[in-house]
Amino acid sequence: MMTITCPKELRKAFPFFASQASVIYLDTAATAQKPACVMEAMSSFLSSHNAPVNRGAYTLSYVATEKYENARKTIARFIGSSEDHLIFTKGATEGLNLLSNGLKNKIKENDEILVLETEHHANLLPWQKLAEERKAILVKIPVLDSGHIDLEAFKKLLNPNVKIIACAHMSNVTGCIQPLKEIVNLIQDNEAYFIVDGAQGIAHQKIDVSDLNLDAYVFSSHKLYGPTGLGVLHVSSRLLETLDLYQVGGDVIESVSFEKTIYKKGRGRFEAGTPMVAEVLGLEAVVCFLSSLDLEALWAHEAYLISKIKKALLEMPGIHLLGSSDTGVVSFYSDHVHALDLASYLDTAHIAIRSGHLCAQPALHRFHTSHAARISCGIYTTEEEIDKMLKVLESALVFFN
Ligand SMILES: Cc1ncc(COP(=O)(O)O)c(C=O)c1O
Repeated sequence: MMTITCPKELRKAFPFFASQASVIYLDTAATAQKPACVMEAMSSFLSSHNAPVNRGAYTLSYVATEKYENARKTIARFIGSSEDHLIFTKGATEGLNLLSNGLKNKIKENDEILVLETEHHANLLPWQKLAEERKAILVKIPVLDSGHIDLEAFKKLLNPNVKIIACAHMSNVTGCIQPLKEIVNLIQDNEAYFIVDGAQGIAHQKIDVSDLNLDAYVFSSHKLYGPTGLGVLHVSSRLLETLDLYQVGGDVIESVSFEKTIYKKGRGRFEAGTPMVAEVLGLEAVVCFLSSLDLEALWAHEAYLISKIKKALLEMPGIHLLGSSDTGVVSFYSDHVHALDLASYLDTAHIAIRSGHLCAQPALHRFHTSHAARISCGIYTTEEEIDKMLKVLESALVFFN
């Protein structure tokens, strides 16, 4: 393990911070900056080893396939999964759509799909669409004012008609980490599939899917400091056996004729077409990079920065937080200034924050607003950056008031 426990030291591994030295990047929850090893791994593959995987009967192709499948193993290990349960997708969004489409035939009229009320649209709309198509009932799982799941209310919603339960590991709005183990314990007598959107959670907390009896865990590479255009979907054995095909085409078949096609078994049925090989190798590089760090210390520092931001925001007049945030992100709105104006003001000082509906309109409604500003940190965010942002934010509030 490297001794890097401090963001300042760590930033040297991220070329972005050298090339954009005047920028304070506080939108890591939208997409994270990448360490150099990601670009190196992708570039090395594309310049020296590029060849189709799983197709060619020649050495280059064998080597590319080996690299690709080794990367799958490394990435699977990182979350406690195994290569047989790990499907590559284009992102968390595609992973969730793959699941909702694949479960379509298992859902019938009046079945219930429970979704946490603060979900990102990516983990709400696929289930809403599925419910509409199958005349099933979409049920909201309420959250407490803190943003954490209301476990008492959740318990009362459980019944034999519930077929799917979808919830984020961590909300991109409230920054709340949901108690996955407690949820799993509550639903153990229920047949429902438990789907977890890990798009935010995986970047702030260790996840071990082998320790949690969940059916699916989905995340995006680009929010975990890896390349864009790649997602990861871990699926349990029972769900893998149940899921119908999502996309079909090359690489998912045993044999094809005009009369009949026999598809592969297992996860191989779900990766139609030429995969994102360079991106997978980029994600492998970042997973190795992250595994070499003292992540617990870096995550503790992130949580410290978030608590500092929360404290400062609560002292500013007319500011309201959306939930109590455990780590990673803080969202808020002002009684007097629109979130877009705040973001534009901060931009004039080269500070990048997110503003708008945060792709989670029901979550914003839960906290009585239609717009919010969001500050999000990564393992490379420094206290100096936060102090500067807070100063500029205070001057923005004075300016607009
Ligand atoms: C909680 C959560 N889920 C899902 C997504 C969708 O991720 P992607 O756009 O990478 O597919 C996001 C993106 O912001 C998110 O924050």
